[in-house]
Amino acid sequence: MTKRKIKRRTFILGLGGFILASKIKNLYKPSQAANYANRDFAVVGNSPLRDRFATKGLLYGAAVSHRSLSSDLPFANRVAAECAILVPESELKWKALRPTPDRFSFAASDWLVNFARSQGLLMRGHTLVWHEALPKWFATKVDSRNAEQLLQQHIATVVGRYAGKIHSWDVVNEAVHPDDGRTDGLRQWPWLQFLGPDYIETAFRAAHEADPQAMLAYNDHHLEYDTKDQEARRTAVLKLLERLKSRGTPIHALGIQAHLRGDADRFNAKKLKTFMRDVASLGLKIMITEMDVTDQKLPKNIDTRDRIVAGSYEDYLNVALEEPAVIAVLTWGLSDRYTWLESQKPRKDRAPVRPLPLDAKLKRKLAWNAIARAADSALKQ
Ligand code: G3I
Repeated sequence: MTKRKIKRRTFILGLGGFILASKIKNLYKPSQAANYANRDFAVVGNSPLRDRFATKGLLYGAAVSHRSLSSDLPFANRVAAECAILVPESELKWKALRPTPDRFSFAASDWLVNFARSQGLLMRGHTLVWHEALPKWFATKVDSRNAEQLLQQHIATVVGRYAGKIHSWDVVNEAVHPDDGRTDGLRQWPWLQFLGPDYIETAFRAAHEADPQAMLAYNDHHLEYDTKDQEARRTAVLKLLERLKSRGTPIHALGIQAHLRGDADRFNAKKLKTFMRDVASLGLKIMITEMDVTDQKLPKNIDTRDRIVAGSYEDYLNVALEEPAVIAVLTWGLSDRYTWLESQKPRKDRAPVRPLPLDAKLKRKLAWNAIARAADSALKQ
């Protein structure tokens, strides 16, 4: 047999061995199900999440929509009972607020702000600058000549309207996208093309001018797991925050969306802790702004699914709530009755998704227990 043939055979055997080894390793890696199968999610007492978090000087809340709150009283009552702060899921985005270039539509957002105030709840604003949820006319009507004026006018009008009524604004959302290849890691999108990277600072200064009391946040996603691309995202977000702070930009917080995956196996508590510490060392607060746990790829069995979802919430919040700069946790919805995941990350088996603290019948799930336990074991801020 020629030297060449021996070399090739050795290489193939080696490769085969490697693949087999990794499969065996995966086979015996304790599955998420095994991780949480025996965890008892026992909780002391019945008090709602808002009170458990308040006891530690923290805020708990959820994303809500005008449609669900205004048409579902039992749900609205549970929201008011469990939450201390709310955020509109879509009603403060350009698509909802700007039906035409010269008209604003505040009916739904006004209703939500008034609902919160009538229930003694705080309200977050989401979001003033984003590449999604833009009105159809945006692509044809906005260019480098009018972009600055439009951005300033939008922020002055929207933030000005709710001045003194909004706890914190996500001024800019998801502006970091290292895959676009820029050295600053910024996302290539219209605002950047029209105004250059300073559009972010411009937006924060305009928001601060319109409501000097509101806490102003930069909000982003995919910052949770120990993967190469999310490490690059954390680095780019930190760089952006350092640059904004170094230029005296009125930015006060980072919003970490925390859309978690129940099937994820790359959660690294140490890396998350370090990232949060680095953000805090810039003098910034941190808010977990859009937490949920997708069960799209989890086993169909409801108890197994609920255990993995609950375990994912608890493991993440146990790390996050250790960081003194963390001031609030909001889930992206409160009940499985209303969740974006049902339409945007449905299960192949069409079984209803279960990513949130309350089930579709508004009953507390293990996920609710997990969030309550994390608050109960958190240190007082
Ligand atoms: O209100 C209209 C309704 O009148 C119309 O009949 C219906 C059918 O087209 O659309 C409704 O608008 C939808 C809106 O949600 C309200 O339900 C939009 O099409 C739909 O795109 C929008 O999806 C929202 C999405 O952001 C885009 O704005 C999701 O509910 C919302 O959960 C999602 O939230 C984002 C955060 O803002 C940022 N981070 C990720 C997160 C999940 O994608």
